[in-house]
Amino acid sequence: MKAVGFTEFGGPEVLQVLELPVPDAGPGEVRIRVSAATVNAVDALQRRGPARSPDARPPFVPGMEAAGVVDQIGAGTDTDLRVGDQLTTIVLADGAHGAYAEQIVVPAESVVRAPHGASDVQAATLPMNGLTARLALDTLGLEAGQTVAVTGAAGAVGGYAVQLAKADGLRVVADASEQDETLVKELGADIVLRRGAEYPDRVRAEVPEGVDGLLDAASLGALTARAVRDKGRVVTLLGYDGPGERGIVYQPIVVFRYAREHAKLDRLRQQVEDGRLTLRVARTFPAEQAAEAHRVLAAGGVRGRLVLTF
Ligand SMILES: NC(=O)c1ccc[n+]([C@@H]2O[C@H](COP(=O)([O-])OP(=O)(O)OC[C@H]3O[C@@H](n4cnc5c(N)ncnc54)[C@H](OP(=O)(O)O)[C@@H]3O)[C@@H](O)[C@H]2O)c1
Repeated sequence: MKAVGFTEFGGPEVLQVLELPVPDAGPGEVRIRVSAATVNAVDALQRRGPARSPDARPPFVPGMEAAGVVDQIGAGTDTDLRVGDQLTTIVLADGAHGAYAEQIVVPAESVVRAPHGASDVQAATLPMNGLTARLALDTLGLEAGQTVAVTGAAGAVGGYAVQLAKADGLRVVADASEQDETLVKELGADIVLRRGAEYPDRVRAEVPEGVDGLLDAASLGALTARAVRDKGRVVTLLGYDGPGERGIVYQPIVVFRYAREHAKLDRLRQQVEDGRLTLRVARTFPAEQAAEAHRVLAAGGVRGRLVLTF
């Protein structure tokens, strides 16, 4: 089967078409005939290296989410899915096991039906960043009526977080550049403030006591403290863990923790069908053009996901 990956770490140019053996689904697993796989920042990190595990050997195949149809169900797997069903899945990319491949095997808990009416390209954009936003809000643990601030709100994680936070009954103070302001308002943010290093001060001006929690999808790090009330919590996505001031706790999260949270992923699917979550696709590329997709991502300013088609 065809996959896209690399045998040496480096820039986008290391990505190449690989021919790999077709994997078989074991007990508890399903195999997917992939037709769409998204391109995320973490794929570029993996491509640049080094490998997460010192024992990992090439070839490496990136990709953390995909959509397609079930083409094999492992013996004894507890699932209501049938061969041919349209689905979407989070993928824990590891070594040669990543979503940039025609066929991948994943645990049945990582898979849900694609949202009704969504194309494979759209459906592929849900699991990884939707679960990240869900985990971030669960980690903040706020109650309806409390206030959350979101940086990077025009991005994939930030955008889902704004919409999920509204669905949870929170008040949302989001950031946006001038050109993203309409988009972020349409996602449902109650207050939209100009993004950048001054955003935390702008939040403080709007919410004098400070927000109860903050999701830092733009990785502003320590700067965010200014926006947060005493003993508030900040969830970070690239490992930043403080130190906080005034009892503020910085809590890094990793989406892997929710990779088998089937009920949570299925709820996200339902929220798409209910119109509460918006699937956003920027552009598609034939899988052979993965290097170009990585270049476009690196240039910044992409709104919605880049998706490889197989
Ligand atoms: N820990 C985990 O499990 C996990 C899971 C998913 C993602 N992540 C990480 O989370 C981050 C967000 O991912 P994503 O997929 O949402 O990325 P994304 O779609 O590129 O969104 C990031 C957004 O932040 C904006 N931004 C960049 N610098 C900013 C700044 N200084 N102030 C305000 N906004 C700024 C970007 O705008 P421009 O495009 O204009 O730069 C973009 O709109 C990435 O670092 C990713 O690697 C971590």
